[in-house]
Amino acid sequence: MPADAMALEEFREQLAATAAALAEPGTGLLAADESTGTIGKRFEAIGLENTEDHRRAYRSLLATTAGLAEHISGVILFEETLFQDSTEQAGGQPLVELFQQQGIVPGIKVDQGVEPLAGGLAGETWCTGLKGLGERAARYYARGARFAKWRAVLQISSAGCPSELAVRENAWGLARYARTVQEHGLVPIVEPEILMDGDHDIATTASVQEWVLRTVYEALAVNGVFLEGSLLKPSMTLAGAACPQPPNAQEVGAFTVRTLSRTVPAAVPAILFLSGGLSEEDASLCLNAINQAADAVGAPWHLGFSFGRALQHSCIKHWAGHDLSAGQAALLARARANGAASRGDYEPGSEPSDDASLFVANYSY
Ligand code: 13P
Repeated sequence: MPADAMALEEFREQLAATAAALAEPGTGLLAADESTGTIGKRFEAIGLENTEDHRRAYRSLLATTAGLAEHISGVILFEETLFQDSTEQAGGQPLVELFQQQGIVPGIKVDQGVEPLAGGLAGETWCTGLKGLGERAARYYARGARFAKWRAVLQISSAGCPSELAVRENAWGLARYARTVQEHGLVPIVEPEILMDGDHDIATTASVQEWVLRTVYEALAVNGVFLEGSLLKPSMTLAGAACPQPPNAQEVGAFTVRTLSRTVPAAVPAILFLSGGLSEEDASLCLNAINQAADAVGAPWHLGFSFGRALQHSCIKHWAGHDLSAGQAALLARARANGAASRGDYEPGSEPSDDASLFVANYSY
């Protein structure tokens, strides 16, 4: 057996166990892996300077939220956080240990951002970070990370996006990444995000997303990715943010389940959606409707969440740089809401939220 196949063989059981732990019913992931630039934009909104100490304070808030593990099975971290100690108030120990002590599995963003795609259409990108990825994955594993994330970005436009080149390149990058990190013991979160930018309808998104997911799973198969030890993080099947006839949550649920049923193998243990610019409450309502639609057809996967903006928006706002307990209460409220929505049991409006639209054109993470 070639050395790389042996490396994957060695981790097979552990990968499946990690993926199953992240697919725990009623839970999802907290995507707290904003790059230093992106968290800076969030801090700017509350008038807080983007310093290492402020980032430490905010991520310490997340790691010490009591009861979070009831609804959050894993947390995606940015590299700085994985190697950072918590505040003195939180005990000063590594942040990664605080999450582990709660029973929350730490993960790590491993892509290094997107760049313009030569040969693609205007605005199209490819995702960087493959060079040296194996060595980085081994270092992250040694520090306690057990899963990884790689975000590839596609867009829909009347100019013909996504191009075939963009779909194939991004699918292949996801597959190379997934195979590489599995050889180092990390469960890959495969994230082919389709941006909400545009005025297209939901049927257009559904047909593009079917094409994208079909291409992604073909690339994963060619690369020998172990599906039982992997997770999918797609966008929900939504209309463009500027669509004149926006679908309701039930339509989103039905289209999303149809798209996934046509393209995602049943061997994948969980599908954990990104929130993509939906407001906090809308993200929960759509996830709830997706689970109700999935129950009706007996879909094979756990359908949970891996939200960034839709879990943290009101948390950051209420924290405002100093109010720990208000920030933690807001985080816990959205975690509870989405935990319930992952079972199709969310009562609309039953948890506090901020109804601001979190949509940002051409969003980067
Ligand atoms: P949003 O939920 O804010 O879209 O982000 C999730 C994420 O991790 C994107 O990569």
